[in-house]
Amino acid sequence: MIRAVKGTRDLLPPSTEVWNLVEEAARRVFRSYNYGEIRTPILEETQLFARGVGAETDIVTKEMYTFDDRDGAKLTLRPEATASVMRAYIEHHLDQRPGVQKLYYIGPMFRRERPQKGRYRQFFQIGAEAIGSESPFIDAEVIEMAVELLGSLHLEGAQLLLNSVGCSKCRPDFLAKLREELAKVAPKLCADCQRRAQTNPLRVLDCKVPEDQPIIDALPSILDHLCADCRQHFDDVQQNLTARGVAFQVRPRLVRGLDYYTRTTFEVVHGALGAQNSLLGGGRYDGLRRALLDPNEQRVLDNRLALVPPLAGAIQEGGQIPKELDPKIEGSGIGFSIGEDRLVMTLEEARGGEIKPALDLFIAPMGDVALRQCALLARDLRRQGLTIEIAAEGKLKRAIELANKLGARYTLILGENEMASGNYTLKNMATGEQQSISREELPSRLSRG
Ligand code: HAM
Repeated sequence: MIRAVKGTRDLLPPSTEVWNLVEEAARRVFRSYNYGEIRTPILEETQLFARGVGAETDIVTKEMYTFDDRDGAKLTLRPEATASVMRAYIEHHLDQRPGVQKLYYIGPMFRRERPQKGRYRQFFQIGAEAIGSESPFIDAEVIEMAVELLGSLHLEGAQLLLNSVGCSKCRPDFLAKLREELAKVAPKLCADCQRRAQTNPLRVLDCKVPEDQPIIDALPSILDHLCADCRQHFDDVQQNLTARGVAFQVRPRLVRGLDYYTRTTFEVVHGALGAQNSLLGGGRYDGLRRALLDPNEQRVLDNRLALVPPLAGAIQEGGQIPKELDPKIEGSGIGFSIGEDRLVMTLEEARGGEIKPALDLFIAPMGDVALRQCALLARDLRRQGLTIEIAAEGKLKRAIELANKLGARYTLILGENEMASGNYTLKNMATGEQQSISREELPSRLSRG
């Protein structure tokens, strides 16, 4: 038997109802914050992720589905979408559109991780990106939007964790310090940490191995090494969140597994998820646009920045690009992605199992003539938004059994006489009560409101 590929799965009804519910809520909340949908291809050039996510990250070194196309091009199934959104921002000159570019996406991502509960090789993300501003106000707005979305789904027990990972000015000093301290303790850490101490020391802070925790807790904290600008930015983000009534906890060890992050990083975790407890992750990525460009393109970008009046003088004088770049052209942004598989799982667990959609009416026709005629009745009711099922074949007894199994709210048994007179007997499946009802009364009786 051919089965679904390891780490991938079929999503089936009624669970897909919850998926749709979550996606509808996301679209509604995103729209209310003036976000528009972006759909980027699932296939991208491998370079995009090597440059964007980072050549030394676990995602790029171990987890990507990469292959040579027939013409020799190296392609990758997207492991995440932020790099793709930034590629589209550059490719379609979105920096020339008015205002901050606010974009959302819903779709599958691919990472060749070891499958377990809440971790798949094809998984779905619901994400949002705001590109073109460095303002801490936007950080707070993006984070508030994520929290609002979870709140609109009545998800309880989620915790928002917040950190700043600094910028290209202050992080190198911190990394040097961290390497120095790690050199002293690395032999006592787990094998993964020993490797990361060499390749990607920040990721050591993220280690979950219990025995390593006391050692890692004693390592230097990034929050003690932020430059003045990053410190101010982080303070402002926190003040903005507090002003909005968004509760958070500062976690100096929250560094996240993608290299593009600068300044704000955040995660929402949920206890019900177990080991894979991260429901969503996000952060700011002010250097991502530049990281995606090759050296020639970077020069073109610098020339454009040089035309921005306040910068022109500074660039002409020293030939150096000052830090205060134009955020729209620089593509400064912040966003998050929700793990939709994990969100659906958490909601289903919180609600005690699968959520069954309502089947408003089950029609059991008696005979072929009634079957054909009741199709018109069903069509009229469906046009009014009701969910109707008709037993197309089989005996009446079987039909009633099926109505019960499907969880129909009401059942209608229709013979030719009933069809001709327009007077029906409607059975309430929960109470067993039967009522005589006219065709005209049917829609209001069935309505869920
Ligand atoms: P990420 O932390 O790699 O960030 O993934 C975000 C979320 O996707 C995780 O919190 C988790 O819920 C879900 N997720 C990740 N891997 C898997 C998996 N193998 N199976 C199931 N769920 C998974 C990003 O992807 C960034 N692009 C987020 C972002 C957007 N940052 C800025 N903008």
